[in-house]
Amino acid sequence: MKKRITIFTIVLALIVVAAGIFMYTRSQARNQATQENSAAVSQAKTTRQSTKDLSGDHDVLVVYFSRTQGVWNGPLEIGNTARIANFIQEATNADTFEILPQNDYPDDYTQTTRIARDEQNNNARPAIKGDLPDLSGYEYIFIGAPVWWGEYPMIVRTFLDAEANGLSNKTLIPFTTNEGSGLGNTQSQLSSQFPQATVLDGFSVRGPEAANSQADVDSWLKQIGVTQ
Ligand SMILES: Cc1cc2nc3c(=O)[nH]c(=O)nc-3n(C[C@H](O)[C@H](O)[C@H](O)COP(=O)(O)O)c2cc1C
Repeated sequence: MKKRITIFTIVLALIVVAAGIFMYTRSQARNQATQENSAAVSQAKTTRQSTKDLSGDHDVLVVYFSRTQGVWNGPLEIGNTARIANFIQEATNADTFEILPQNDYPDDYTQTTRIARDEQNNNARPAIKGDLPDLSGYEYIFIGAPVWWGEYPMIVRTFLDAEANGLSNKTLIPFTTNEGSGLGNTQSQLSSQFPQATVLDGFSVRGPEAANSQADVDSWLKQIGVTQ
């Protein structure tokens, strides 16, 4: 009888030990699965953040100068370049900053061209109205304007000079509207003034075609990798 009790006790002890080992092994396996899962989640987040689809993010800024008066095909309801800025904003959910002059240009086209010519000859830096934006949070900065005498209007150069530190290591993307000059020397201005920046291929369209160019803007944004 005593021998039977001893055998029973040993068997019971073995069962308890086996059950303990089973439970321990299972909980270890569960822990490992949880760790693998959270690693996968954080990897997915990292991957998503590193894609170039910036829709919904706010690390894109669209800076532009545009006029409705004193324009070749004006007066306009919305400036030609402003239309392109709006299309970029829609596609990338960017913030925008409009460069406004402290002293407005004339409503007359020919007078505007003369003043613009003088500003260019004098390498002027016309004053911008209001405060300039803090660029530190942005990675992609679009800089758009009408082509004036083959290049950015000098008021855009005011912006480029004043924000030189903030622009120097960003991705810069020019866009223009014009009457035939394309990008003029806007893109080369950015490349030469900001050698540390990445300058992507810009977009240009003739002013009267700006309103109908949303599809072209969208496909350009995909082509340069800013949207997918
Ligand atoms: C002062 C001035 C200079 C211009 N110079 C040029 C030029 O050199 N090349 C060109 O193709 N268009 C030139 N244009 C035409 C503008 O680039 C064009 O009308 C543009 O679409 C206007 O855009 P906005 O409405 O955004 O101001 C000039 C216009 C003005 C007012």
